[in-house]
Amino acid sequence: MFAEFPIIRSPLKSSAERATWEVRKNELKDQKQKILVVDDEKMIRWSLGEALRGWGYEPIQAETAAAALAAFDAEQLAAILLDINLPDGSGLEVLRQVRHRQPDAVVIMITANVLVDETIAALRGGAYDFIGKPINLEELQVAIRNGIEAGRLRKEVNLFRRERAQQFSFDQIVGESPAMREMLALAHKVAESEVSSVLLQGESGTGKDLVVKAIHYHSSRAEHPFVAINCAALPGTLIESELFGYEKGAFTDAKTRKEGLFEQAEGGTLFLDEIGELELSLQAKLLRVLEEGCFRRVGGLKDLPLDVRVIAASNRDLKAEGEAGRFRSDLFYRLAVIQIDIPPLRERGDDVGLLAQHYMSSFRKRLRKNIACIAPEALAAFASYEWPGNVRELRNVIERAMILEDGDEITAKYLPRGLAVESRTGSETHAESRTLDQFRLPGDGLSLEEVEMSLVRQALKRSGGNQTKAAELLDISRDQLRYRMKKLEEVAVAANEPE
Ligand SMILES: Nc1ncnc2c1ncn2[C@@H]1O[C@H](COP(=O)(O)OP(=O)(O)O)[C@@H](O)[C@H]1O
Ligand SMILES: [Mg+2]
Repeated sequence: MFAEFPIIRSPLKSSAERATWEVRKNELKDQKQKILVVDDEKMIRWSLGEALRGWGYEPIQAETAAAALAAFDAEQLAAILLDINLPDGSGLEVLRQVRHRQPDAVVIMITANVLVDETIAALRGGAYDFIGKPINLEELQVAIRNGIEAGRLRKEVNLFRRERAQQFSFDQIVGESPAMREMLALAHKVAESEVSSVLLQGESGTGKDLVVKAIHYHSSRAEHPFVAINCAALPGTLIESELFGYEKGAFTDAKTRKEGLFEQAEGGTLFLDEIGELELSLQAKLLRVLEEGCFRRVGGLKDLPLDVRVIAASNRDLKAEGEAGRFRSDLFYRLAVIQIDIPPLRERGDDVGLLAQHYMSSFRKRLRKNIACIAPEALAAFASYEWPGNVRELRNVIERAMILEDGDEITAKYLPRGLAVESRTGSETHAESRTLDQFRLPGDGLSLEEVEMSLVRQALKRSGGNQTKAAELLDISRDQLRYRMKKLEEVAVAANEPE
């Protein structure tokens, strides 16, 4: 029953599989695995060489530290058997250099007299295992086999991590507008910081998921789990046991103890999506966890310590929700120590065009359609549309148009009706052609100056801070716009001045 819950975990099977395949492919190219034997005694090199050959490996020999490093650089090695005492230096130094050049190299240390200090130093330095002389060949064979397997897994994990970090990197987030740049700069800072909780606000489809993952995979927590739960998808009682886990016997169905998501995310990040939907009683429990840095399983008596960064997201204004009594204000203030606001698409200026291009090139491959540009009337429609569904909506609009278009560009023909209609009114740039009477003077009048200021603010927002565009929207010159912006600033300063 629990398996069906809409809880998302991030590792992607396909990319893990691809990583495994990469490693296997390299192994296949090199059928006989090479093992470097580093020892100054000829007899030992010879007898180890014979044993290795017998086990199906290809031995390579080195007598000194210098020769060992030269062989390491020249060959693709599966493992290294490394004597600690070498004529021209210590095997520990060779170990250090090897690991520096290739962190996942498999090194097994060999020594005549196993000294505790040396053993510890070697294992600290990243040696996989340690074998004393006289060498027990059976023991050595097992150590080599396990070492190579461990090295293979380590390589695979590293490959997978690198791929995943790339997949969820900040570079994948398209956006050049000032509003996006500012948001991304803040998200970067948060990723690199140690802050334990973050609030992400943005309308649906603005890219909250994308930003959360970029923060996690860009942080020092990247090698620990990323765990996500959508608070709107489950009833409260289930969310509680999902989050905190439960002890055996906590309730009728609790046949065994179950780990909660907080525990699963240990060292990493827990993403609480749509936190605005969390029941008030659970909000109180969550607040306690955040304040005290520990939690308790359902039915448990012990507080368990916790090292998890919590990122909460909401498409509602939680401050307003708090004032309306639907969200705990104390939890809001605890979460909002660091608040990242993701701007809606309509406030990102030219990013609409950039994103459209981005999706066109990805759908071009997938749909095998040769559509590379957007007709001016469609672009104008995009620019004036409100995009209530934000980037998700834009992506769907592009996909649909690319499926339906027969020509080699996206025209207004296959845009959804609402969008195309807006374009017809929105693309008329001359003020005279608009019915100005739709702006009705209220019965008790209004301040013309305030209306003007509000329109200037809106134009700047819509153009993503681009002054030329904002001036065009208002059909005034840039100088006239600047003059009004300056007035806006003066009003703001005056409002902040003490009486
Ligand atoms: N700036 C962006 N660049 C590229 N793709 C984006 C961007 N913002 C959102 N997307 C894409 O739009 C879709 C919706 O984003 P998502 O993160 O799920 O939004 P939210 O969680 O805010 O509802 C996803 O497919 C996401 O990859
Ligand atoms: Mg989302």
